[in-house]
Formats: sequence, C-alpha cells, structure tokens
Amino acid sequence: MSHELVLVLDFGGQYNQLIARRVREHKIYCEVKSYKTPVEEIKAMNPKGIIFTGGPNSVYLDDSPRMPKEIFEIGVPVLGICYGVQFMAYSLGGEIGTAVDSSLSEFGRTETEVDTSSLLFKDIDKTTITWMSHNDYIKKLPAGFEVCAHTAKCPYAAIQNVEKKFYGVQFHPEVNHTERGFDMLGNFLYNVCGCRGDWTMESYAETAIRDIRAKVGDGKALLALSGGVDSSVACKLLAKAIGSQLTCIFVDHGLMRKNEGDEVEAAFADSGVNFVRVNAGERFLGKLAGVTEPEAKRKIIGEEFIRVFEEEAKKIGKVDYLVQGTIYPDVIESGLGDAAVIKSHHNVGGLPDYVDFKEIIEPLRLLFKDEVRALGTTLGLDEKLVWRQPFPGPGLAIRIIGDITPEKVATLQDADAIFREEIANAGLDRSINQYFAVLTNMRSVGVMGDGRTYDYTLALRGVSTSDFMTADFSRIPYDVLEKVSVRIVNEVKNINRIVYDITSKPPATIEWE
Ligand code: XMP
Repeated sequence: MSHELVLVLDFGGQYNQLIARRVREHKIYCEVKSYKTPVEEIKAMNPKGIIFTGGPNSVYLDDSPRMPKEIFEIGVPVLGICYGVQFMAYSLGGEIGTAVDSSLSEFGRTETEVDTSSLLFKDIDKTTITWMSHNDYIKKLPAGFEVCAHTAKCPYAAIQNVEKKFYGVQFHPEVNHTERGFDMLGNFLYNVCGCRGDWTMESYAETAIRDIRAKVGDGKALLALSGGVDSSVACKLLAKAIGSQLTCIFVDHGLMRKNEGDEVEAAFADSGVNFVRVNAGERFLGKLAGVTEPEAKRKIIGEEFIRVFEEEAKKIGKVDYLVQGTIYPDVIESGLGDAAVIKSHHNVGGLPDYVDFKEIIEPLRLLFKDEVRALGTTLGLDEKLVWRQPFPGPGLAIRIIGDITPEKVATLQDADAIFREEIANAGLDRSINQYFAVLTNMRSVGVMGDGRTYDYTLALRGVSTSDFMTADFSRIPYDVLEKVSVRIVNEVKNINRIVYDITSKPPATIEWE
C-alpha cells in the first residue's frame, strides 16, 4: 500500500487501539506494532511518524519494555505518551523520578499550562485540561530538549526537541478527558510529521480491490455470509474485486429477524457473485423441536450450521481461498505477532476445518469496526446491513424461552419488527447499542374487547454498552415504550402483556438465554 503510515509502538499500554483509532480519525493510516519490532523493519516501513504508547512499567525495572537507541536515529519524528515519553527521556540521557516520590504522581483531569508556540500546542488554549495517570515522572531533561507544558505537580508535562522532531507528553492525548487531545495529536501528525491525510475508505477500497485481484488471479474464493456487518462488507468488497470467482453461502436457519433473510439476499443476489441461499428453516426447527435448554439449543444450531455449510461447500468442490471477516481489534488482541499468544482466526466461529482451500483472505484485517461500516457505505452496501446491531448466531432461538415452534417464531418476528420500527421512528436506533424483543413462555390473563385472553408475555430489552461485556439497560422514554406496547398488543396475535427489562449486565446477561 502506498499510504502515508504512522506506527504506534506498543509498550503495553491499555490505550494502544485508541491511539491508532485517533490517528485514523485524522485520515492517516496507522498500524500498531510491538516495541519488539526490529528497528530495521520499522525503517523499511518508511513511517511518517512514530508514537510510543504508555505502559504499566517503570523504565528502571529490569524487565521493562525498551527499544534499541537506533530507533532515535532513523530520522523519523517521535511522540512519546506517558511511559513512552519517560522511555524516550531516559534513553536519550534524561532522568526519571520513581514512584517512591508519590507526592508527584498525578491521576485524572489536570489543569495544564502549555506553550502555545510549540507546534504540538498550536491553536490550543494556554490553560487546558489533560488526563494524567502516572507515578513516575521526568526529573531531568535529556540534552537538546526543552519543556513545553507543565502542571502544578509536574514540571515536565510535555517536552520537545524541535530540531530532531521528538515530542513527548506525560498525559494521555488519546482519551476524551484530555479536552484538546485530538487536536494535539493532529498537530503532531500534520505539523510535525508533515502528513497530508490520505487515508479514506475510497482509497482503501481501491487498494484492497487491486490487491485482492492480484492475489486471487483466476482462482476461486468461498465466503460464509451471515448477514452481519463484517461478512457483508467483506462480501461486497470481494464482489467488486473478483465477481463470479466468489461464492457466498448464506445459511438461513429460519431464525433471523423479520424479512432479514430476504434483505441479505436482495443485497447480494445481483452483485455478480455466486450467491447461494440455503433455506434451512424447516431443518433447523425440526432439530430444535421440543428442546428447551438454552445450551442445547445453541449446540444444535452450531452443529447443524456446520453440516449445512459443509454440504454446500462440497457441491462447489475445491476452492483456492476462504474469506474471513477478521477485523483489526482481533488482530491486535491476538498479540501483535507475539507467537505465544496468537489465537488464530478466532472469529470464524467453528467453521469446518475440512473445507478444502489453499489460503485465507482477510480483507478487513486492518480495519476498526467503525471503518468497516464506513467501507460498507462507500461500497454501496444497504444501510440496514451497515448499521445492523449485533445479532447472536443462534438467532431468535435464544429469544424464545422454552420450546420453539414456527408459530412462536412468527409471533416474535412480528413483535420485534414493531419494536425496531418504533425505535427507529423515535430516532434512537443508533444510540441504543442493542435492542430486541423476547418471547417468554409465561402466559397471563388479559381482557380485550369484551373477552378474556390468556396469552404470552413479551419482554422488550434495550441496552447501552461499549463492549457487550457489561451493559446498562437503556432509558427508553415511556412514550416510546407506550407506542410499542399498544401496537404490539393490537397487531400481533398471542401477546397480551408487555414488560421492559430493567436489569443491567451483570447480574443479568444481554440475551435471556
Ligand atoms: P450476553 O447475552 O452474553 O450477550 O450478555 C453478549 C453479546 O453477545 C451476543 N450473543 C451471541 N452471539 N452467538 C453469538 O454470535 C451466541 O451464541 C451469542 N449469545 C449472545 C449477544 O447478542 C450480545 O451482543
């Protein structure tokens, strides 16, 4: 790729991905590499700038992460953040005070005076709030450096060697609590490194399509399409690159949300790829008949999914490439090439090993989730698929408590569709991270018209979360809930009562099964 490149060298800080995302938000391509990457390799990548991340250690510990001094001799601007600036100062002959002197440690929002004549602080207010989180601090500057920001406790909150283009900040510009942190990073990237900002999804798509064509040649590729954002975007990209040399297999287990199977088909059937939709609803429901235990449902669906995929793949025969929707956080979390911790292709989710292919293509492996969405939009993918919220592999099977019947699936699909429609009407569809309906197996008495009813209770669930590991229930306005409730009870058969789930995770989980 011929993009401008900025490298984030990871010293073990918790914000490595965040720094990379901020750089990319500035339209500059950025990769995270381990601090163990050989300097020669870094030089060969020809970066416009290097950012050292923070890290949990003190530079004086024997096992603290260090790079050879040569990293400062390749003529590339460096920005050190937190541990990164301490490491830079220490390596170039400065002194670091240790945690023992804890009166000088700082945590949290901190008023900071910056030197606005520094390139790093161009157009920043002289007094600004930064986010500090450090025990150690720079005690003595290395030769050639000067101070360009300080706080009440920290005399060297930012330092610079203008001639060599080395900059360092004790605070964290990548977190939002540093009020002008984004602009400070921009100053480093544009004013110090001289970047122009050539990273756009249009240019990414062009390059990726060219690379995929060169790699695949006249070979054949296979993709398991789930209708989720990642596999949908991968499919669209591959469709543009190699058209009919790609086969997509979309296993519709009949437990998708209302119309979702058709939406996926509509988005891909005419895109020039070989699109195989396997309508396996009856087959899945047959296997699930009478099964009530959540884990048993999951297992049956997982296994059946592989069986169906296997049968279809066999019909196609040998393919050269298997396409996977791995994205950049998976790559970073796999350990940055540190062999011991790599978990390879963990997002495949149990696709069969036996599928006969030569190599794997991961066209999204350099992208963050928001970039995958932006790429989807650039490629003309249906907005519904671009903004699709996470949907569990087992689908509605784990949102129907107890046994599953075709009637219950239809009831839940109708109710869920109304909920989604009203959330969208209220303009809340992008702010609630996940929302859905659950058909409980509890029935209760109601009254409709002049008659008694004895029907199911439907639960609505909406959560706000950033990582889906923990979640808070969404404060959906009562008038929106009321509209949803009235519509569902009137329009959907077999439901006479609606409840809203007000538990967070933990102690509950997001799904009910
Ligand atoms: P829980 O219910 O564990 O859900 O709080 C966390 C997130 O994971 C999704 N989820 C699944 N996704 N297969 C999946 O692909 C599953 O079996 C599964 N179970 C839960 C859930 O929708 C939520 O986003």
